[in-house]
Amino acid sequence: MIHDVEDIEAKVTRIKEEKKVKDSQLFEVVEEVFDFKTLMALYALLNRGVISRMYGVVATGKEARIYWAQTPEGEDIAVKIFLVQTAEFRRNRLMYIRGDPRFRKVKKGFRNIIDLWCTKEFINLKRAYKAGVRVPRPYAKNYNVLVMEFIGDPEERGKPAPLLKEADLENPEEAFNILKGFIEKLYLDAGLVHGDLSEYNVMVRGNELVLIDFGSAVDIRHPLAADFLRRDIYNVYKFFQKLGVEAGSPEELYLKLTSTA
Ligand SMILES: Nc1ncnc2c1ncn2[C@@H]1O[C@H](COP(=O)(O)OP(=O)(O)O)[C@@H](O)[C@H]1O
Ligand SMILES: [Mg+2]
Repeated sequence: MIHDVEDIEAKVTRIKEEKKVKDSQLFEVVEEVFDFKTLMALYALLNRGVISRMYGVVATGKEARIYWAQTPEGEDIAVKIFLVQTAEFRRNRLMYIRGDPRFRKVKKGFRNIIDLWCTKEFINLKRAYKAGVRVPRPYAKNYNVLVMEFIGDPEERGKPAPLLKEADLENPEEAFNILKGFIEKLYLDAGLVHGDLSEYNVMVRGNELVLIDFGSAVDIRHPLAADFLRRDIYNVYKFFQKLGVEAGSPEELYLKLTSTA
C-alpha cells in the first residue's frame, strides 16, 4: 500500500519509466492516494487507449469512488474504482455471488473479492446493455477499475446527473412506468435482478432514466433472485407511492414476472 504523497509520486515516476508512459496528464489530481495495484490498472487502461485523462472525484461511496475522466477522443467517461477490501465487504457481498451460476467456479477461500465484484458489475452491465435496458454503456474493466459511459448533468459538464432520490420529476407516473419496464426487461430479456434497486441507484437525465450500480445484480437462477426481485419492486413502488403516484400492487408485478420466466 502507498501511504503518502511522496510515496505515490515516486511510484508513479517509476511506473511511467517502466511502462514508457509519456502522457503525464493522466492524473490531474496527483494527491489522490491510489494503491499500487490501482495505479497499475489505471496505467494499463491508459496504455490501451481507454482513458487519457482523469479529472476529479464526482462521488464517493462506501466502497467505491467515481471519477469523471476522458477518452483519447475527448469523450466523457465515468471511472468507478473499488477501494475497500474489508472482511465486512466480503461478508456482505458473498450473498450476491454464491449461487449465481456464472460464479460456480469461484473457490471457497478465494482471495480477491474486489476484483471479482468489479468483474461482476462489468458483466452485469454488459448483459443489461445488450438487452436494451438503459444503463451506462460499459467500456472496460481492469482489476478494481470499471470504465463506463458518463451520465452527466446536461447543465454542467463533468457533473453527474441527479439521482432519482433528488430529481425534480416532471412526470412521476411516466418515470414509474419506465422503471417498471426496466425491471421487466432486465428480468425477462437480460435474465438479471438488480438486487440493490432504489431511488439511490437510478439517475435522471432530462426525460431519461438510467439504472446504475450493478455489482449486486444476480442471474435469475440465483436461489435468492426472487427475493431480491421482490425487494427491488417494493422499493420502487414505495418511492413512487410517496410521490403520490397510484402505483397499484407491487406483488402483482412480482407474480407476473416470476410466473412467466
Ligand atoms: N456512469 C456514471 N456517470 C456519472 N455518474 C455516475 C455514474 N455511475 C455512478 N455515478 C455517480 O456515482 C455515485 C455512486 O455510484 P454507484 O455505482 O451507485 O456506487 P456505490 O456503490 O457507491 O453506490 C452515483 O450515485 C452517481 O452519482
Ligand atoms: Mg449506488
